Amino acid sequence: MSSEKTSTFSEPSYAKSDKAKTDYPWYSPNIDKYLVPETQKLLEEYSNIPRDKQSEHVHEVRDQAWAIRSYPCTGLGVWLVPFISTLPAYPTILERLKGTSNGGSGARLIDIGCFLGSDLRRLAFDGAPTENLYGIDIVSHWDVGFALYRDQDKFKAHFIEGDMLSINEDPDAGSGETTPLQALCGTADIVSISAVLHQWDWEDQIKAAKKVAALTKGPDDLVVGYQIGNVEAKQIWNKALQLHHWRHTPESFAKFWDQVGAETGTAWKTEGKLLSFEEMGWDPEDNRWMELGDKALNFVVTRLK
Ligand SMILES: C[S@@+](CC[C@H](N)C(=O)[O-])C[C@H]1O[C@@H](n2cnc3c(N)ncnc32)[C@H](O)[C@@H]1O
Repeated sequence: MSSEKTSTFSEPSYAKSDKAKTDYPWYSPNIDKYLVPETQKLLEEYSNIPRDKQSEHVHEVRDQAWAIRSYPCTGLGVWLVPFISTLPAYPTILERLKGTSNGGSGARLIDIGCFLGSDLRRLAFDGAPTENLYGIDIVSHWDVGFALYRDQDKFKAHFIEGDMLSINEDPDAGSGETTPLQALCGTADIVSISAVLHQWDWEDQIKAAKKVAALTKGPDDLVVGYQIGNVEAKQIWNKALQLHHWRHTPESFAKFWDQVGAETGTAWKTEGKLLSFEEMGWDPEDNRWMELGDKALNFVVTRLK
């Protein structure tokens, strides 16, 4: 399952391409179709942005984000479609964060590749205490997130700019330096990682998932999110992005976490589901540049030991 590549990259070069350039198949001038009722409600009730001002607002913010990185989800506007709240584990996640089943002591959630912090805002809107929320990203879109949600007065989540691959899951073997990112090791009850792992091939997804595992505390912790998968588990050459990626099925994703467990002395139960782009709330036309058989793989992975 290894690839032909010779080196590991931390973030894909296509995302860093010409900021002024918008003639990509994944940049839509108009992203109104993703300003769905749930998002309109959040922007109105949480961010106090009236509905008739929301379209202009999200277009301005999208272009600020596009100037930082030209990710397909940024250009297409699919970040406007709620994700974390669609997971079957969402009620459990919220309950743990609120501490309702734990005498009020709330759990900690770390969102890797948090981008604008949209999943974190959804948790905040649904009542999660924001002090226990952490966002990590290799490049900060955090201020753009504040521009989007206008919540500086109430959103107390922590942001750490850093490369997830720089986490040392074996501190005894490292320099011993405790960076803010490293200090999060062994502290997360829930790790969310969406649209990040799929940028790598199998081998580098394993490297990254071992860092994810290192952030967790112990049994019952959750790793949740989505990535692009496929109806067939395989390495693909993504012509549009000029990269090899490993595409998982739910079955290969379970084997993948078995390997992470075997290499880290942990064990994981994996629940994954392939969803069509329509089921994700995305326009399939926007994803015509992707590979045949590509779908979204939503996952909830539970640490057993
Ligand atoms: C495609 S965006 C997905 C954003 C968000 N999670 C979502 O689902 O809408 C990928 C995000 O991961 C971040 N990222 C990529 N490589 C990373 C790395 N090695 N460490 C931390 N963040 C990374 C990018 O900067 C970007 O914000």
